[in-house]
Amino acid sequence: MSKTIAGFSKLSKSKKIEWIANTYFENAENAKTVLKQYWNDNEKLQQLHDEFIENTISNYYLPLGVAPNFLINNKLYAIPMAIEESSVVAAASKAAKFWLDRGGFKTTVISSTKIGQVHFMFKGDSKNLDLFFKAIKSKLISDAKPITKNMEARGGGILDIELRDKTTDIEDYYQLHVSFETLDAMGANFINSCLEHFAKTFKHEALQFKSFSEEEKHIEIVMSILSNYVPNCLVRAEVSCNVEDLTENKTISGKAFAEKFVRAVNIAEIEPYRAVTHNKGIMNGIDAVVLATGNDFRAVEAGVHAYAAKNGKYSSLSHAKIENGIFTFWMEIPLALGTVGGLTGLHPLVKLALELLHKPSAKELMQIVAVAGLAQNFAALRSLTTTGIQQGHMKMHLMNILNQFEATDAEKVILVEHFANNPVSHSAVVDAINNLRKE
Ligand code: MEV
Repeated sequence: MSKTIAGFSKLSKSKKIEWIANTYFENAENAKTVLKQYWNDNEKLQQLHDEFIENTISNYYLPLGVAPNFLINNKLYAIPMAIEESSVVAAASKAAKFWLDRGGFKTTVISSTKIGQVHFMFKGDSKNLDLFFKAIKSKLISDAKPITKNMEARGGGILDIELRDKTTDIEDYYQLHVSFETLDAMGANFINSCLEHFAKTFKHEALQFKSFSEEEKHIEIVMSILSNYVPNCLVRAEVSCNVEDLTENKTISGKAFAEKFVRAVNIAEIEPYRAVTHNKGIMNGIDAVVLATGNDFRAVEAGVHAYAAKNGKYSSLSHAKIENGIFTFWMEIPLALGTVGGLTGLHPLVKLALELLHKPSAKELMQIVAVAGLAQNFAALRSLTTTGIQQGHMKMHLMNILNQFEATDAEKVILVEHFANNPVSHSAVVDAINNLRKE
């Protein structure tokens, strides 16, 4: 049977499933059963999910968890997190509780500017291009009014347009580099629509610009697109306390723990192999909240990692210091998020997650998300520099191993109790299940 098909997107959902199941699976009936298991009985809800993307054949579930007790700028939050990794929500909850007793998290939004660019080629005298840009700049903005007027009425819109000469990198290459304030919207559609409009006006007006030569009149637009690099859409999150208050663990003093913690952060600051894993731990918290609130985690990931390399070498996003007996741990991170538009008003669980967070503005959500990242990083570093990561991680992973072996509820109760006082490893769990089943 051919494994290619024309017009797949035009088939009905059941025909698509039929074709996929028959073409790619040994047991087509089983594949169909698995796909159908994840459908929602509520037809309207299912249709909503079907229509989010093209060629939907089922729903892909992730657990939605909650990490309570987050005190952020003296306001309490229970943070929703959508993630599959066993220990993330537990770690966030632990860090939240730990800092709840030490004044909580302090956050500020440093800036909220987003960027988009029209990339174009211009053959000719750059001074003439500069004259043209100066002459046309206000028209670029006024022509885009139908797109910008609602955003402007709310206090946002286009902040500035710059002409950038990039001809030292690529011959004849220039940009319109545009900054935007998109308020509570992530703004991707708004920005891209504005940019495409600028591009059209720019190209059209160039044809009529008297000071241009015939060749100069023919500007080639390469593309118009927002940038996911948002170093000026920045939020800061911080925790601090006296070093003596830093430990609950009787085996290590607060001071010794603080010093070891700072050392671990210093290592991530100078060593890219460690920095990537360190930052991955931060993203465990960030992505989970970004996903639960219906935001674009790929955009956030791309922007955050670019920011981590902004000085030419990939480095830690978070920093820590001890000064005058005070331990401070903080992070500045770029986050382009929205609390209106996109999935936020559509996906029932996203709406619920935003309500749980007191219906935040985009700026408030930036602060909550940054806190989730810092908390996650704190929890990981605390484990890494004291007990090691595996103890807590494997405890949380135990249930996955038990489920892999189809343990019954009764078996789970016995084995969870057993592993409360015994180290969890894959082989230890397998042995314990086998022994139990022999009995
Ligand atoms: C695992 O998902 C994340 C950690 O590796 C982060 C870190 O090493 O800091 C534990």
